[in-house]
Amino acid sequence: MATLTQLNPQGRLRHLITLEGLGKELITGLMDAAERYLTRPGALPARDDSLKGRTVANLFFEPSTRTRASFELAAKRLSADVINLDVDMSSRAKGESILDTIYTLEAMQADVFVLRDSEPGIPAYIAEHVRPHVSVLNAGEAHLSHPTQGLLDALTIRQRFRDFTQLRVAIVGDIEHSRVARSAITVLRTLKVGAIHLIGPEEFMPSSIEFPGLQQFPDLEAGMRDAHVVMALRIQRERIVEGTGSLGQGEYFRRFGLTVERLRLAHPDAIVMHPGPMNRNVEISDDVADGQRSVIRQQVTNGVAVRMAVLSAIAESMGATTPAARG
Ligand code: CP
Repeated sequence: MATLTQLNPQGRLRHLITLEGLGKELITGLMDAAERYLTRPGALPARDDSLKGRTVANLFFEPSTRTRASFELAAKRLSADVINLDVDMSSRAKGESILDTIYTLEAMQADVFVLRDSEPGIPAYIAEHVRPHVSVLNAGEAHLSHPTQGLLDALTIRQRFRDFTQLRVAIVGDIEHSRVARSAITVLRTLKVGAIHLIGPEEFMPSSIEFPGLQQFPDLEAGMRDAHVVMALRIQRERIVEGTGSLGQGEYFRRFGLTVERLRLAHPDAIVMHPGPMNRNVEISDDVADGQRSVIRQQVTNGVAVRMAVLSAIAESMGATTPAARG
């Protein structure tokens, strides 16, 4: 990322690799654009021709339900052609490098690559190698970054609480292995959130995230007191090396599970978030996940709108590059 800029010379978004370094104005603009793509329940989804003639390739080298489906829907609702590469059946399984896979799809005139990979650095690496008119969107990079999730989380919070500076946000669980937590913290810092409480067992606390409004709590009750937003996280077992992640599921739920009783400690208007996939009755009880405070399904709805906003912003930066004029 040292040499890569996410913005084109006109200051428009060309790639979305990380929320780090993106200003409040750009982030707020993306949230505003996403709001315009939301329609009332039961109405037809919003559509436009922002990506007409463009091709979006979804390359998910890790499992996904929400991000993959919502990027596909977002691209189709913006009139793009969409390729969903079945990675297990792709030539990467025969030893092809990811860059050769990208070059192959680029040769078929793919314009946007949506990438999820377990290896740190892959989205930036690909962005450094694609042709000038091509964009790369990070759909989940190892434990490091999930920028569209950060944006949809910020939008979901803003729909309930307009002023971030007054908010106390509690993030509960496996923060060390969570790209969702890192991107949420980044966007909340940019939006000048009042306080962030990181709650979980010591083995899940990150060592490398520090700023003045951030505090760590080994005790759920203390950390959750008066929180306006409570975000539960899944234990990322796929990223836990042997010897850590020592709490059994029952013990974890007893100490850190979100329950109705514990939520009474939060602010009376508190909302409950979870990026999904949820492990019910491990990090969150059924009645909290499905309860009145839960905005978990709204997060999913917002995810499509945010991805439409990001794709539409990318389309604007491609504006001058008509298919016939590609370099
Ligand atoms: N929140 C999220 O990234 O979910 P998926 O893994 O299902 O895409």
